[in-house]
Amino acid sequence: MILSLTRIPIKVLVMSQDIVVISIGGSILIPDQNDSVYIGKLAEMLKKASEKVRICVVCGGGKIARYYTVTGRELGGSEYELDLLGIGCTRLNAGLLALALGDKSSTDIPLDVKTAAEKFKDGGIVVMGGTEPGHTTDAVATMLATELGAKRVINATSVDAVYSDDPRKNPDAVRYDKLTIEELDALVYKDHGAGKSSVFDPLGVQIAKKERIDIQMVDGRNLAELEKAILGQPFSGTYISSQ
Ligand code: UTP
Repeated sequence: MILSLTRIPIKVLVMSQDIVVISIGGSILIPDQNDSVYIGKLAEMLKKASEKVRICVVCGGGKIARYYTVTGRELGGSEYELDLLGIGCTRLNAGLLALALGDKSSTDIPLDVKTAAEKFKDGGIVVMGGTEPGHTTDAVATMLATELGAKRVINATSVDAVYSDDPRKNPDAVRYDKLTIEELDALVYKDHGAGKSSVFDPLGVQIAKKERIDIQMVDGRNLAELEKAILGQPFSGTYISSQ
């Protein structure tokens, strides 16, 4: 059973070489209004934060991916083909963020987590998108964290925390400040479908559980809270512990 908990600020012990993988939703990265302004501010914050922790970012596809998967489905595309279209969109979004990061990153976007981990050794901020059909970029973030030995994945999304139900549809939805990975597991969808969204990718939850990776859910539009989460400071959102 999931209990509603009062706000308990959680401070993470940040080591100088602490590695953080950020999964950023495409709808956050491309809000559809003043996109370059948001991406520019995000890039500045990431550059500043990267002086304290090492950062990798996995970008989602958002509205653009949804357009391609919906249109492709109407044209008779298979789930595999639709996933490939979605992956293409995530990589385009990654290219925009990498561009905004200037010499701190590279617009030569790695196509898989092994290549991303290799690039990570050169320093700077590694930005990537999706890898292969069958999951979303949340799962890629946990795979990259596993590859790098990172113990935290931050999910920058369009909701400010994990809720028991969609808070936009259900005013009685309970907001969680803290969850265990098992409790998150009970809340996520189990089946993958191209363009289908869940609070966190179910495969990503399984990987986080197995590899003991904590997940921090934060509103990605709120750059001050996102920065706090990255730096391991108390933040407004949900801390999902895998320990
Ligand atoms: P996203 O990661 O953006 O999925 O990838 P999403 O469900 O829209 O996630 P949020 O809402 O931004 O967090 C877009 C689509 O691209 C395909 C999937 O079809 C996914 O729904 N994709 C992405 C893959 O097949 N493999 C990947 O590694 C990444």
